[in-house]
Amino acid sequence: MPPVRIDVATPSRGYAISLDDNALDRIGQLLDELKVPARRFVVSSPLVWRLHGARFARGARGIEPILVPDGERFKQLATVSRIYDALVKATADRSSTLVTFGGGVIGDMAGFAASTYLRGIALVHIPTTLLAQVDSAVGGKVGVNHPLGKNLIGSFYQPNGVIIDPSVLASLPRREFRAGLYEVVKYGMTSSPSLFDRIGQNLKAIFDREPAALTPVIAESCRIKAEVVTADEKEAGPRRILNFGHTAGHAIEAVTKYRRFRHGEAVAYGMLVAAELSVARVRSTSKGARRPHRQPRAAAANQRSLSEANARGDPPRQESRRRPAAFRPADGDRRDVNRGRRDGEGNEGGVDEGGIPEVIGDYASRPYSRTLAVNVLNPT
Ligand SMILES: NC(=O)c1ccc[n+]([C@@H]2O[C@H](COP(=O)([O-])OP(=O)(O)OC[C@H]3O[C@@H](n4cnc5c(N)ncnc54)[C@H](O)[C@@H]3O)[C@@H](O)[C@H]2O)c1
Ligand SMILES: [Zn+2]
Repeated sequence: MPPVRIDVATPSRGYAISLDDNALDRIGQLLDELKVPARRFVVSSPLVWRLHGARFARGARGIEPILVPDGERFKQLATVSRIYDALVKATADRSSTLVTFGGGVIGDMAGFAASTYLRGIALVHIPTTLLAQVDSAVGGKVGVNHPLGKNLIGSFYQPNGVIIDPSVLASLPRREFRAGLYEVVKYGMTSSPSLFDRIGQNLKAIFDREPAALTPVIAESCRIKAEVVTADEKEAGPRRILNFGHTAGHAIEAVTKYRRFRHGEAVAYGMLVAAELSVARVRSTSKGARRPHRQPRAAAANQRSLSEANARGDPPRQESRRRPAAFRPADGDRRDVNRGRRDGEGNEGGVDEGGIPEVIGDYASRPYSRTLAVNVLNPT
């Protein structure tokens, strides 16, 4: 695949996303092309570094890593402090660059460290999960969790560049990959019918991580996110479209104490909730006249309420080819659901206040069939 370049033009900084299979092998050159300061520090996790560090270090001519743990439970100020400690010890100064090399947790934490160390040093994201490549590395949101809520501490800090090498996704567990793909489904549902169709039509090749199928999907996702954050850098309005599925999704994550689901899985449920609401709203406003006309079996199965699905209590399975494991209220209690609505994404209540797409790819007001959504959410 030829390299793809996507420009992000936010008011605070313009930068490019470079998407190139095997970018990692010439990472030093790509960083030079970004004209970021030559004293470079890379923050990664022990796992990511074990898998891809040797390749990175070869490409970046011996850059030394700062390794910190990357589970969601480590996404906290104490871990950011460890990054500060390493930077201070190495006498990193204003003319230093911090490169993040990991999933969304590393990108958010190390990005926050870059935004605050010496009041801000150069930052480049090199995301290594599908979720980070299509979502978290683009847009400038960085930060950490607080014991009382997710992403409550953070800032908007645009990077100097984002370098995406889809080949690193080869080592990503299928479940992580699928969780990231749900965010792509979100872009399709809110903004791009063609992206939505592309996922449905190429599901196997995408899951097999074939560059010809995967790279255009990542590129289109980045384009959509770049467009939204360019129009609304600080989430004053239009950027809320990116929260589609997230209000209920975050509540599901909170009620299960962030342990049971990957973020994307919870968002997948959140999108189903929003779809239910959408259909219900159409029914109530039009007395059923504009109800989606076909109800295939898979769609009917998904139409069961979330609580019915919960009752089954399917455990999450690493290699499951079904939709995300069911959410069980027994995993938490109602107070956690409400707490889950309070987060750093501006979701304080209600369900997907940003709107409900009623036709695939259009965040507007027409009814849509959920058949396609259900097919994508149930890869067979
Ligand atoms: N800043 C934003 O705009 C934004 C947007 C969406 C999500 N987020 C944040 O992103 C985080 C989730 O990110 P995530 O899903 O990438 O999770 P993650 O960073 O925890 O990564 C998931 C797991 O995959 C491993 N991993 C990473 N790259 C790998 C690779 N190439 N091969 C094998 N394993 C690999 C990690 O070590 C980790 O165990 C959440 O904290 C969420 O709040 C931020
Ligand atoms: Zn998300």
